[in-house]
Amino acid sequence: MSQNAFDSIAMVDLKGQYQRLKPELDKAIQQVLNETQFIKGPQIKLFENALAQKLNAGYVVSCGNGTDALQLAFMALGLKPGDEVILPVFTYAATAEVIALLGLTPVWVDVEPDYFFIDSKAIQAKITSKTKAIVPVHLFGQTGNLGELMGIAKKHRLFVVEDNAQSLGAYYQSKALGTFGEIGTTSFFPSKNLGCFGDGGAVFTQQEQLATSLRMIANHGQSIQYKHDKIGLNSRLDTLQAAVLQTKLPHLDQFTLNRNKAAAWYDAELQEHPLIRIPVRNPESTHVFHQYTICLGHPTMSNDELRAKRDLTKTLLAESGVPSMVYYPIPLHLQNAYRNMNKENDEQFPVAERLSCSVLSLPMHTEMNEDLVKKIARRLIRAVNQAFAS
Ligand SMILES: Cc1ncc(COP(=O)(O)O)c(C=O)c1O
Repeated sequence: MSQNAFDSIAMVDLKGQYQRLKPELDKAIQQVLNETQFIKGPQIKLFENALAQKLNAGYVVSCGNGTDALQLAFMALGLKPGDEVILPVFTYAATAEVIALLGLTPVWVDVEPDYFFIDSKAIQAKITSKTKAIVPVHLFGQTGNLGELMGIAKKHRLFVVEDNAQSLGAYYQSKALGTFGEIGTTSFFPSKNLGCFGDGGAVFTQQEQLATSLRMIANHGQSIQYKHDKIGLNSRLDTLQAAVLQTKLPHLDQFTLNRNKAAAWYDAELQEHPLIRIPVRNPESTHVFHQYTICLGHPTMSNDELRAKRDLTKTLLAESGVPSMVYYPIPLHLQNAYRNMNKENDEQFPVAERLSCSVLSLPMHTEMNEDLVKKIARRLIRAVNQAFAS
């Protein structure tokens, strides 16, 4: 058993996974070291093609990280300062960051409470003549009502850029997430479902012309060496990371299976507890459990009360040796960097604000086993009972 289950519990057990795949990974890394083509080595193309084929993703262009992937997407689509981009307020800041950096205007939308997905019903009201794109975020490992969102985008001729940093390998109605919009983006940050040994990311598109633009922009806007047809970035996946990812890719389905097994063990232990809501599954989406995120409390509690008890639960859990994380404690419209950006003063996003007080993500990774999950669940229940009784 690779997991050091009974001494220190990890939020994500990267050591255990590395130990299990060590012979393959070390060999792939050594090969790059021997060949010394650290930038644009042959492993890059091999990995891009393998991923494109696996997900039926058309063209895959690798890049430096998942944040750059979003930037490349907006640049390749030709979005200009002042163009409006609709995005959820309950997501990681990277989604909004690039929009703001490019001078685009973020247009905030609340999420729905079950799948934490941008609320399609609320999108309609936010569309103006300046709206150019919608950025759905497939949060924690699955998507929401993506079909309805795609319908709205089509009706209003808006680009869709899917932020699929957290749900690589998940499918909606049997089609891979990240392959619905004009462009899909992902991250290979080490703790992601397909993680490398540093930073990495990629964009997906079915359109050859967009793929060409994306590739150019990621490499200083060059069409051929020293001919710069566009303003670009230096955002390349390096060869070592591509070798790691190419080695891990054939294991992705097994990783997903392991995560789903862990989720089912958690469900069995936690589902009866009146103060714990286990993750709600979307029957139209598969789930890859990037996170196992529960919601605590009950509807009559105020947000402040809920936040205090959730935070106490987290502290008690940590004291019992179990790490947990709050993804995300502050929705984007309340973050200092964004709070004055294109928001009517009193506009509220009640679902996101409630979720920021109630969510708690538990240890989740590819190396979990049933005993470990049971142990975490028992300690969690003890912590919840104590926190909510006080
Ligand atoms: C939803 C989402 N979008 C974008 C990113 C950015 O990816 P990266 O850290 O590779 O830049 C992340 C990473 O955590 C993410 O979770």
